[in-house]
Amino acid sequence: MPGGCARGPAAAAAAGDRRLRLARLLLVLLGWVSSSTGTSSSSPSSSSTSSSSPSSSVSAQPPPPPPPPPPGHCPAPCECSEAARTVKCVNKNLTEVPEDLPRYVRTLFFTGNQLAILPSGAFASRPPLAELATLNLSGSCLQEVSAGAFEHLPSLRQLDLSHNPLADLSPVAFSGGGGGSNASSLGRSPLSELFLNDILPPRDSQLRNRSFVGMVAAALQSGGALGNLLRLELSGNNFIYLPRDMFSGLPKLKHLDLHNNSLVGLGNLALGNLTHLETLHLGNNAFKALYNASLVQLQSLPNLRVNLDNNPWLCDCNLVDMVAWLKETNVVEGKASLSCFFPEKMRNRPLVKLNSSDLDCDPLPLDPLQTSYVFLGIVLALIGAIFLLVLYLNRKGIKKWLYNIRDACRDHMEGYHYRYEINADPRLTNLSSNSDV
Ligand SMILES: *[C@@H]1O[C@H](CO)[C@@H](O)[C@H](O)[C@H]1NC(C)=O
Ligand SMILES: *[C@@H]1O[C@H](CO)[C@@H](O)[C@H](O)[C@H]1NC(C)=O
Ligand SMILES: *[C@@H]1O[C@H](CO)[C@@H](O)[C@H](O)[C@H]1NC(C)=O
Ligand SMILES: *[C@@H]1O[C@H](CO)[C@@H](O)[C@H](O)[C@H]1NC(C)=O
Ligand SMILES: *[C@@H]1O[C@H](CO)[C@@H](O)[C@H](O)[C@H]1NC(C)=O
Ligand SMILES: *[C@@H]1O[C@H](CO)[C@@H](O)[C@H](O)[C@H]1NC(C)=O
Ligand SMILES: *[C@@H]1O[C@H](CO)[C@@H](O)[C@H](O)[C@H]1NC(C)=O
Ligand SMILES: *[C@@H]1O[C@H](CO)[C@@H](O)[C@H](O)[C@H]1NC(C)=O
Repeated sequence: MPGGCARGPAAAAAAGDRRLRLARLLLVLLGWVSSSTGTSSSSPSSSSTSSSSPSSSVSAQPPPPPPPPPPGHCPAPCECSEAARTVKCVNKNLTEVPEDLPRYVRTLFFTGNQLAILPSGAFASRPPLAELATLNLSGSCLQEVSAGAFEHLPSLRQLDLSHNPLADLSPVAFSGGGGGSNASSLGRSPLSELFLNDILPPRDSQLRNRSFVGMVAAALQSGGALGNLLRLELSGNNFIYLPRDMFSGLPKLKHLDLHNNSLVGLGNLALGNLTHLETLHLGNNAFKALYNASLVQLQSLPNLRVNLDNNPWLCDCNLVDMVAWLKETNVVEGKASLSCFFPEKMRNRPLVKLNSSDLDCDPLPLDPLQTSYVFLGIVLALIGAIFLLVLYLNRKGIKKWLYNIRDACRDHMEGYHYRYEINADPRLTNLSSNSDV
């Protein structure tokens, strides 16, 4: 496995990204200028290395269109097999996608690199990679996937973006796959399998004002671009909840994998429209119970099999509906193996063997927050009691102290009183005014 991702420019800020892109553009331009002013005789051989980008076509001389890479050509760090129609650029720390990928490629492994950013049209070439069907970008330190990053890949069926810290996934990242020449057709993507396992960015990265799950949900909706998707994997993303319409743009979905997240409920997630759903993996989450609303949704899907393994089921009165449903349903895979996790005395009891007399809420289990409040209360009460005790033990000292204060006050007041009497005596005031004169 490749090591950690370098703290690339995308981690810092968007401004950095822009600067980097500008620098790249400048480099490309410089390269083109130097190659065009240099030896023009050796252009056929050097053309593949200094393949000019289409953006430099503004200059005076109309540049020759980049010739298609000769057959048998393979970008330097990669391994190509024309027979298998496969290109592998694996664990090479590449920072961008080579422009001169062979046109026959159907399967591209681009794993274990240092991409950081996937700009829009990252795989767009002229002529397009018309046969590319399987694209694996897993573990390539991708932090940003721009709008239309997979444009001009009309045959793309399977895309793996797993194990990338995706802090910025454009809401239209998956739009516009098919339209070869139609630039405006930001339409349907041909994708049928999308893998987004373990794409949670590190905590400190800036998620531009949105929640991670919201960002993923927006990209999945994409104005219905992923309408052809059949398989979606979203495991290991620490999702706690799922927005209601998260999967509403995926009407053909058959396989949905959400295992190893932190889901506590399905909330009001709209699963009802996924009428083709066949497998739903909800194992290794944090479900304690499923309630009627979710049970009805699961039961309503005609071909569904759902996996609920390894969830911390809490066997109290709130589980009654689910247990009753479990005993009846055929929807749950291996339902006999589901067992209680809480309370302690019920641990490992199979859910389907419980009856309603087992499921009561009498010994109110305190949740951690409640326990901490109780603890705080006890501590405060103790402090109060100690304070009172100290007061009580010192009652004599305190009495003495109070008396002292009272005496001091009295002395003081008497002093005032005396002075007041002196001032109030008219003879004495006269005397003092005379003596002034
Ligand atoms: C990629 O980078 C890592 C660490 O930065 C290094 O250990 C490894 O040798 C590099 N691999 C290649 C092919 O350059
Ligand atoms: C993509 O490549 C990784 C690393 O080689 C591999 O583990 C994963 O299974 C591949 N994805 C698909 C969909 O085959
Ligand atoms: C391109 O757009 C035109 C009209 O806008 C449409 O007739 C044509 O079918 C589109 N082609 C593709 C491949 O989407
Ligand atoms: C951030 O979110 C707030 C409210 O959620 C919104 O008003 C604001 O426009 C957002 N800012 C950006 C840059 O998206
Ligand atoms: C579960 O997901 C976390 C990331 O959220 C990952 O680190 C861990 O390896 C995953 N565990 C399994 C068993 O896949
Ligand atoms: C989902 O189904 C409901 C009715 O069950 C419907 O009102 C709603 O428009 C559907 N949503 C989508 C995105 O198809
Ligand atoms: C859940 O549904 C069952 C059967 O439809 C019903 O008997 C039960 O009362 C419902 N539970 C709640 C909490 O509404
Ligand atoms: C509940 O289950 C226990 C065994 O676990 C059994 O003895 C008892 O008869 C059951 N009660 C009902 C009402 O089914």
